Amino acid sequence: MPEKIVIAVPRESAPGETRVALTPDTVRRLVSDEVAVRVEQGAGVLAAFPDEAYSEAGAEVVAGPDGLAEADVWVRVQPPREREDGTDEVEMIRSGGVLASFLSPAESPDLLRRLAERQVTALSIELLPRITRAQRMDALSAMSTVAGYKAVIIGADTLGKLFPLLITAAGTLSPAHVLVIGAGVAGLQAIATAHRLGAVVEAFDVRPDVKEQVESLGAKFVEAEEEHEVGGGETEAGYAEELSEDEQEAERRLLAKHVAKSDVVITTALIPGKPAPLIITEEMVRGMRHGSTIIDLAAVAGGNCELTEPGESVERHGVMIHGATNLPAQVPVHASQMYSRNLQALLNHLISEEGVQIDLDDEITGAICVTHAGDVRYGA
Ligand code: NAI
Repeated sequence: MPEKIVIAVPRESAPGETRVALTPDTVRRLVSDEVAVRVEQGAGVLAAFPDEAYSEAGAEVVAGPDGLAEADVWVRVQPPREREDGTDEVEMIRSGGVLASFLSPAESPDLLRRLAERQVTALSIELLPRITRAQRMDALSAMSTVAGYKAVIIGADTLGKLFPLLITAAGTLSPAHVLVIGAGVAGLQAIATAHRLGAVVEAFDVRPDVKEQVESLGAKFVEAEEEHEVGGGETEAGYAEELSEDEQEAERRLLAKHVAKSDVVITTALIPGKPAPLIITEEMVRGMRHGSTIIDLAAVAGGNCELTEPGESVERHGVMIHGATNLPAQVPVHASQMYSRNLQALLNHLISEEGVQIDLDDEITGAICVTHAGDVRYGA
């Protein structure tokens, strides 16, 4: 019988990261006669999973990077980086090992080069195809669900108003108005959450097909006066087609009055691999009521609002603009739980009786494998 496959769960070191790649529950499901899991001390602490929970689940909790050195597969949330004590997380991975993590491959050519030089097979979670077979591994969707929910909570928390209509002895309070732009995974969850809190919700997407889903969640779909005035095209992969300059201008014209009357605007508009479209201009922010809030989930890709500062919350013209870039880290328990289940599905896909299989002809493995056998495959 071949030796046990060892899966390593290092502690995340990126500032603000609270998630952990595998939760104790998933460890319990993975540990077997063929598979062992080693967890770096404190790896799950910020997500409320203490070391003892990992030990009880069958993992070996190890003191530091050295205890993970012999692992076969490394699972992470954030790309490997240099720790504050100078430890290089790329060098923690043994040559010939497999790494599965979010890697932002488009922004990380140097990291990919170093991983390739080290003969690491790197699997970039964000490249998982959105196909039925990969649905259980779809960590981008899982994290977008969390972000869509949390965006509404931030909006509700920072707005000086209540969300629901309240009829009280002290008078009637009108409900908050929430506008969600981009009704993909994050947007639909934001709509559902805002609706549950009692807000009046409107939503817009360039794909008119989502109108039904938006309405089924209790929101009103903002429609262009003329069909196809603002986009409407869809690629084969089901993503929106990029808008022309004229269409973008038409979108801003269409949305200006809806933005102006909203208390909370949540923007999630993005086409994978493209910079975020500019939807809310400074002029439109000026048109909003003082005390309103924008939560720009597209901040990572530059932002849908002209005044967004990625990673910052700023006040501009009396409006709070949140350029949140890592909302899932603010919900670490459930975000880790979902991510961990996504990784479990991926590991089950890769691990067979013969060991870890990197089959580049496989639709899933081939799509996510960014370095292998000394080569950078991403973009090649
Ligand atoms: P998705 O691809 O499911 O949804 C994006 C939606 O935007 C699609 O429905 C698309 O049709 C729509 N869209 C594209 N261009 C548009 C335009 N010009 N106007 C209106 N709608 C437009 O993506 P998903 O998973 O919902 O993610 C949405 C955004 O949230 C992404 O930018 C993603 O990076 C971000 N995100 C941010 C997080 C954070 O912490 N800030 C965490 C997770 C995701």
